[in-house]
Amino acid sequence: MTTFAIYSNKGGVGKTAAAVNLGYLSAAGGRSTLICDLDPQAAATFYLRVRPELHAKAIGLHKGSAAVADSIKGSDYTGLDILPADFTHRELEIRYSRKKGSTRRLAKALGELQAEYDVVILDCPPSIGLLAENIFAVSDYLLTPLVPTTLSLRTYAQLKTFLREQHYDSARFYTFLSMVDRRKKMHQSISAEVQADEANILPGAIPYTSVIEQMGIRREPVPYSDPSSPAAIAYKQLWRGIEAELLGEM
Ligand SMILES: Nc1ncnc2c1ncn2[C@@H]1O[C@H](COP(=O)(O)OP(=O)(O)O)[C@@H](O)[C@H]1O
Ligand SMILES: [Mg+2]
Repeated sequence: MTTFAIYSNKGGVGKTAAAVNLGYLSAAGGRSTLICDLDPQAAATFYLRVRPELHAKAIGLHKGSAAVADSIKGSDYTGLDILPADFTHRELEIRYSRKKGSTRRLAKALGELQAEYDVVILDCPPSIGLLAENIFAVSDYLLTPLVPTTLSLRTYAQLKTFLREQHYDSARFYTFLSMVDRRKKMHQSISAEVQADEANILPGAIPYTSVIEQMGIRREPVPYSDPSSPAAIAYKQLWRGIEAELLGEM
């Protein structure tokens, strides 16, 4: 079993889109897959047509794995389950900070569950505090979407500094290009720069396209709704790269 955190300290970079589309591709390829929606905005939960649990009691990420296991829902896709978002996640940061072993609370809550799946994908909210440290502790790899703009590169550099400060093993940190608009010169030149300079860059630059935006209306993964679209092809390429570099043979 392998746990991936789709993580960035920045919002609106395509984390949730990637979590849902990669989760779908993982399951479609025969790996039992769990998407954990850790974002109180519950977008991944919404895309997969699952109702978020509104009651604090219902999910209890702060309680431990038995309570968490009860909250898992199936999706419309074979082999793909989801742990829906819960608004109590908003409190996670505070709860964790009050307790001992506070950077391993999430690992404790998800611990036994992880073993039940081939692949676990965490859809993370943008965070850089204690929740981020919990995310680092529970995941085998961070996959960070990078939008090829000057501002995003700056945030990305800050993230790398933060990871260094946390003594995070750089071999577990991967990135992929996201929301790439090929008509924009800046996107083209920064994409080329990143591809040349970054050691752990995955293949499959995700294009900026309305097909992905429409996930909010269609509530289906793009490789399912539009399998031959450039977006679906890019996610498939990205997933194949992840399989080849980070997952063993089936
Ligand atoms: N490649 C893309 N092309 C066009 N729109 C995108 C793309 N990826 C994400 N979006 C849209 O941008 C917004 C933010 O994407 P999302 O995946 O929710 O980002 P995050 O989870 O990082 O906040 C959403 O409205 C989504 O539909
Ligand atoms: Mg998101």
